[in-house]
Order: sequence, then C-alpha cells, then structure tokens
Amino acid sequence: MTKQKTTSRSRAKATPRPRLLVLHGPNLNLLGSREPQHYGEVTLEDINLALARRAEIAEVDLESFQSNHEGALIERIHAARAQEVRYIILNPAAWTHTSVAVRDALAAVGIPFVEVHLSNVYARETFRHHSFFSDIAIGVISGLGHQGYLLALEYLLNKLNTD
Ligand code: DQA
Repeated sequence: MTKQKTTSRSRAKATPRPRLLVLHGPNLNLLGSREPQHYGEVTLEDINLALARRAEIAEVDLESFQSNHEGALIERIHAARAQEVRYIILNPAAWTHTSVAVRDALAAVGIPFVEVHLSNVYARETFRHHSFFSDIAIGVISGLGHQGYLLALEYLLNKLNTD
C-alpha cells in the first residue's frame, strides 16, 4: 500500500467561520441612560457583549459597529460586501424613518438583514410607524427590548445552519 503524502497543497483549507455584522444607528451609544422608559437600562456594550458571547459559542465571527454619522454607517455597509458578511442585524434608530441612503446601501450590497428596534415603534408617535427598511428586511423585531437582538441572532444562526 502506498502511503499518501500530505503536503500543504493537498491539505484541505480550513473553512472560514461565517461572518455576521451588527449595526447600530445614531444615539444608541447612549443606551442605558437614554430614555429608559423606551429603550431600557441595558447598555450598548452589554448588548454587544451578549451577542459576541453567543456568536462565539456558535463559532461565528460577529462584529458590532455603532455610528452617529450616516456616511460612516454607509461605508461600513459597503465594506461588509468585501468581507463576505453573510447577514446583518440592523437597528437603524432614527434613520429608520428618514434614510433612503442607508436603505440604498443595503440594497446595493445585497446582504440580507434583520431589522431590530428596542421599542415598539408602532405604539409610539406616528412618524415612527414608517420604516425605510422593513420591506427589504428578512424580518422585523420591534418592542422586545435588548432581547430583540439576541432573538435576531438566534434566527440567523439557525439560518446559517440550514443555508
Ligand atoms: C429605535 C426606534 C427609533 O424610532 C428611534 O429613533 C431610535 C431607536 C428603537 O430601537 O426602538 O433611536 O430604533
């Protein structure tokens, strides 16, 4: 029997871990102290940490990014395509109701995303009832507080396993 030689060439390349991106829009850096009656008392850092821990258990690469600048969020969305990000979890915050530009960025890169809101936007002012994202999102979670992000992640982890 001939022994098969294993060279670095013939060795199977390790499959890279799937990548997920979490995007937070303006003012979400103030979570914890910002209008807790709407957004709760959990900080953005706590949310990001909980997401990172869950992703690590699932052996998925997850990065979180927050910006108060629309252009910065758009640039991050563009970069996500080159990084082969599979899915995005997005809380566009106030841009939900205003930003054609962020919507167009997501449509341009074609990365499927779940839209998340901490508060139930439909139980609030009427200007919050319209979203520029919901019709192109996989789905929307609104009103479940910080748990909404984790539920979105759970959904996407399951989706990655069945893709
Ligand atoms: C929000 C709801 C938006 O209407 C608001 O502008 C936010 C946060 C939420 O998570 O409930 O900043 O997206």
